[in-house]
Parts: sequence; structure tokens; C-alpha cells
Amino acid sequence: MSFTVAIDGPAASGKGTISRAIAQHFGFAHLDTGLLYRAVGKKTLTHGDSPEIATKLAQDLTPHDLNADDLRTAEVAQAASRIAVIPAVRTALVEFQKTFAKQPGGAVLDGRDIGTVICPDADVKLFVTASAQVRARRRFAELSTKDASLTPEQVLADIKLRDARDADRDVAPMIAATDAHEIDTSNMKIAEAIAAVIAIIEAAKSS
Ligand code: CDP
Repeated sequence: MSFTVAIDGPAASGKGTISRAIAQHFGFAHLDTGLLYRAVGKKTLTHGDSPEIATKLAQDLTPHDLNADDLRTAEVAQAASRIAVIPAVRTALVEFQKTFAKQPGGAVLDGRDIGTVICPDADVKLFVTASAQVRARRRFAELSTKDASLTPEQVLADIKLRDARDADRDVAPMIAATDAHEIDTSNMKIAEAIAAVIAIIEAAKSS
């Protein structure tokens, strides 16, 4: 029997950490759907980013591409959000995500449009947020160990730019599904957020 958890939210809101913890706790498979967009975005840095090229790159994507090096850089994040506005790119990535979501044993997918477009019938939907300042602090702590030239101001500006692009696009914009549980992690320890989500899923499983 499948059980699907959809977790959406803006950059560095905590959705990735929560998703991994939930997957481990319940034995669900986990797909970080941002990696699909990052993998396509990274390829556009060398192959070009016209809608035609980006769409072809998305159509030719393989699961192997999700393990590429350096998908987590700020440069790749921006490239990902630029190609994520192209409708044909999103269409090319839908089937893989929908199939992943339905696997027996349960699945958790995190992204921007999981509860609204990819899994509108998910058993549990969450929208995880935090203030832009808190998210920038978290992302700076994560990225500055690998890139010493990064500044906190730059990370905040990058996050705001990406938030705006993700929320304002015409197709599958980042928005909470009407039936999503909203969790603001600005003032929460990660363990608290995980415990809250586990309680929500336990309740849904036993109902
Ligand atoms: O980890 P972080 O939240 O910073 O980003 P991500 O989840 O890896 O996503 C990178 C970019 O991919 C986002 O800024 C979106 O533009 C795009 N994305 C999307 O459009 N739809 C998804 N389901 C997941 C990511």
C-alpha cells in the first residue's frame, strides 16, 4: 500500500532535513525533487539555457544525474530556479516524480509544487516556512564551509531572488496547498519540527 507525504516550502526552510528524518522514521523512500531542477540547471551552465535546450536536458535526465557533484552550490540553485519557470521542463519531470510517489511502502517528496501539482492526493501535505533572515543564516552556515568567498548578504539576496521567481511563476508556483499543514520553523529547533511532523503523520496513518 502506498502512503505519500508531500513537503513544500521555500529555500532552506528545513523541508529537506524534515523529509530525510521522516523517511528514516517511517521507512519511506525520499525524493528531494529540487535535485531534478538542480541537475538540469547545472547542465544548462555548460550547454545553454534556452527553453529548447533546457527542455531537451530535462527529457534526457537520468537518475544517475541526481548524484552529480556540486548540485548544492548557490550558482546551481539560481540556474535551477531559472529553468524551473519553463513549462515544458516541468512537464518532462512530472512522470518520474508521480511514479516515485506511488511506490509501495510509502514515499516522501519535498519541493515547491508537490502538494499542489505532483501529488494533489497526498495522504499528508506540509508547507514548511521560516523568515528569510533565518533561512539565509542556515544556508550561509551550510555553504560557507565549501565557499569561503560567500557573504551572508549575498546568500540572503540569492534566497529572496529565488523565492520571488519560484512564487511568481505562472506554472506550478510555490504556494501552500489549501489542505497543507503550515509549519513555521523560524523559532523551532529542528528536533521539535520533526516531532511535530511525526505526530501529524501518525494521526493521518491511524485515521
Ligand atoms: O534546497 P533549496 O530549498 O534551496 O532548493 P531546492 O529544493 O533544491 O530547489 C532548487 C530550485 O528548484 C528551486 O528554487 C525551484 O526553482 C526549483 N524547484 C521547483 O521549481 N519545483 C520543485 N518541486 C523543486 C525545486
